[in-house]
Amino acid sequence: MPQPLVQINSLHHAYQEGDQHHAVLNGVDLGISKGETIALLGRSGSGKSTLLNLISAIDHPVSGSIIINNQKITHLEEPHCTLFRRQHIGFIYQFFHLIPTLTVYENIALVLELNGWAQDKTKSRVLDLLDWVNLTRFKNSFPDKLSGGEQQRVAIARALAHKPLLVLADEPTGNLDAETGQQMLSLIHRLAEKEISTLILVTHSLSVAKTADRIVTLEQGKLYERQGDFAW
Ligand SMILES: Nc1ncnc2c1ncn2[C@@H]1O[C@H](COP(=O)(O)OP(=O)(O)OP(=O)(O)O)[C@@H](O)[C@H]1O
Ligand SMILES: [Mg+2]
Repeated sequence: MPQPLVQINSLHHAYQEGDQHHAVLNGVDLGISKGETIALLGRSGSGKSTLLNLISAIDHPVSGSIIINNQKITHLEEPHCTLFRRQHIGFIYQFFHLIPTLTVYENIALVLELNGWAQDKTKSRVLDLLDWVNLTRFKNSFPDKLSGGEQQRVAIARALAHKPLLVLADEPTGNLDAETGQQMLSLIHRLAEKEISTLILVTHSLSVAKTADRIVTLEQGKLYERQGDFAW
């Protein structure tokens, strides 16, 4: 068996508030192969975003390990966490999180500039991405001139720009109408497949979850592998 791209073992996490210890993850194990898409379902407060924060080294677990592409990220310290994230992770959020003072082009180019890409390579990559998400005409617009669906297409292009190993999408359709959400989902899957990116898709929707290769649910701090025909 080849080593999975992502290997999570015995992950425990808790938040400390005053003298209250609030356990969120109680021994999470998960392996994800390169190019796989995983849907992560769980009720509000079950710890889905917490798990993404640990996978992207935004936060560090109380115990357990996360290995991504043979690198133990649970042992990384700054500035290596930021560099790891910038090079290997792409994020797609429910509320887009575009930078309002940058144009559409600049929002997508930023991660490439931070990663030291040459200007001509950056330009050709951003123009390709704009073409793929069908937003070339908006390249010099600011995000507030775009609809929610258009902003999410910019965010998808930005998430994939630097060819990350892993794309983390936290409820990417949660703020869009059903039809636009469906279009976004198809676009995310199509581009992740084209770029051979591995995808973790957090959602509250079983129909969204069923578009992934595998479904896992987070309940009482543990992950359960589900078959596509289970009820939620
Ligand atoms: N920074 C924090 N400090 C203290 N508690 C936190 C923090 N972040 C999250 N929590 C708590 O941890 C639990 C899990 O939160 P998390 O945001 O991971 O849930 P979620 O599954 O993403 O929920 P949702 O579906 O509503 O986005 C919640 O009880 C939340 O209040
Ligand atoms: Mg969340």
